[in-house]
Formats: sequence, structure tokens, C-alpha cells
Amino acid sequence: MNGSKRVIIADIQDELGWSTAEKLGENAYFAHCDVSNEDDVRNLVDATVDKHGKLDIMYNNAGVLDKPFGGILNSTRSDLDKVMSVNVVGAFLGAKHATRVMIPRRRGCILFTASACTVIAGLVTYPYAVSKYVIWGLVRNLAAEVGEFGIRVNCVSPYAVMTGIAGGVSEADAAQAEEMVSEMGNLKGHILKAEYVAMAALYLASEEAHYVSGLNLLVDGEFSVVNPSLFPRASL
Ligand SMILES: NC(=O)c1ccc[n+]([C@@H]2O[C@H](COP(=O)([O-])OP(=O)(O)OC[C@H]3O[C@@H](n4cnc5c(N)ncnc54)[C@H](O)[C@@H]3O)[C@@H](O)[C@H]2O)c1
Repeated sequence: MNGSKRVIIADIQDELGWSTAEKLGENAYFAHCDVSNEDDVRNLVDATVDKHGKLDIMYNNAGVLDKPFGGILNSTRSDLDKVMSVNVVGAFLGAKHATRVMIPRRRGCILFTASACTVIAGLVTYPYAVSKYVIWGLVRNLAAEVGEFGIRVNCVSPYAVMTGIAGGVSEADAAQAEEMVSEMGNLKGHILKAEYVAMAALYLASEEAHYVSGLNLLVDGEFSVVNPSLFPRASL
């Protein structure tokens, strides 16, 4: 990690957070933060500014999924509350408190993780799909508001990666599932890994994305672009 950069990992999984920070080296820290709790988010942002004098980049990445699949009749009010409280409330609070400290400096970069379900329907459960659409709406509205302060706002939208959110699948099953979902994408010979999503987010956070704001950057190997059912007809 570049010596001048400081990274603060904020999560509710303390042990994993600390060990990840340790692996990243002396410029990485961990802070316990439940993103659905405004005091936690406010304290996180204020402690960061107290310690480092500024907040350059806020990446609102925390997210939960109620269940892998299910139609509206299988979606309960409590599923909706659970997903909204993290995916939407967390993103909103992160955006609000980051904006609060970025506006006076007239610069900053705010990122979110949305999902390919913001552009293609029928992929996931209702609570999750709705929550990610909200994030895309938040990105557009926030970008429109804070552009005048030089603050960039974007989101990265992955398709499917076998991470913790997939719920404790074995390494072998995860590899097989990743292969299978990547095969459904139009871009062949590539398997979507979490690192590729991270690289897209890194790009959005970097100087290379200097004039990029209000973007929903899809990382889905054209899955959401191509309707494969049309292909046989198109090639006639
Ligand atoms: N994995 C996928 O296929 C996929 C696809 C599209 C979007 N996403 C999104 O990517 C983001 C990262 O998810 P992931 O796939 O790495 O899964 P993950 O489960 O590995 O990571 C999610 C993280 O959010 C944290 N978290 C959950 N509730 C929290 C809370 N209240 N406060 C603070 N942290 C909390 C979890 O502890 C975990 O570390 C999420 O927003 C997810 O919705 C994932």
C-alpha cells in the first residue's frame, strides 16, 4: 500500500476486519461500525477526520441479501426491513456524513456497490432488488447535488460473485458457481472474481476517473446487455 494512503475498514465483523487491516499493513485500520446506526457512521467519519485531517474517499460497500431467490409472495416485511436497514439506510448515512465533511474541502469521492439488478430485472429477491435500485437513485441525486462542490459520486454494479453474501458455500462449490454464472455472461473466457469488482471501484476512486461522476459502472461481462434468447433469430 502506498505510504501516504490510509485505509479504514469499517464493518460489524470485528475479527475479520482486524485481520484484514493487519494484512494490509501499518496504514490500514479497522473500526467497528454498524452502518444502520447513525451514531456509528457519524463517529466513524468524525474520528477519521480527527485522526487524518480529511476524508478523501468513502466507499459504502456493506450489504446483505435476505435469501438467494424468491418471488414477491415469498418476501416478508421483515426481509424488507432487514435488507433496507443495511443496504439503503447504511448507504444513505454513509453518503450524508461523508458529504458533510467533504463539502467544506470542496473535493471528495463517494462510492457505493449497487448491483447488475439495477439494469436487468428478475435476478434477485424483491427486497434486494429494490434496495439496489435505491442506491442507483441515491448516486444520481447525490451526484447532481454535490457536483458543484467538486465531489464525485459513482457506483459499481457487479453481477454475481461467490462472497460471504452467498452464505457459506465451500471453496469448490464457489469456484463451480462462479464458472457457471460467468458462462451465462456474454464475455467468454473470463470468470468474474471479487478482485475485478474491487479494480472497478479502484478506478472510480482514482485520478483516472477525474471527470467521471453519476456513473453506474457495470461489472457483468455484458450479462445485462445481451438478451441471449434473441441470438438464434439474429443469426438467421
Ligand atoms: N457477491 C455478489 O454477487 C454481489 C453482486 C452485486 C452486488 N453485491 C454487493 O457487494 C457488496 C459487498 O458484498 P460482498 O459480495 O462482498 O458480500 P460480503 O458478505 O462478503 O460483504 C458484505 C459485508 O457487509 C458487512 N455488513 C453487513 N451488515 C453490516 C452492517 N450493518 N454494518 C456494517 N457492515 C455490515 C458484512 O459484515 C460483510 O463484511 C454488497 O453491497 C453486496 O450487496 C454483491
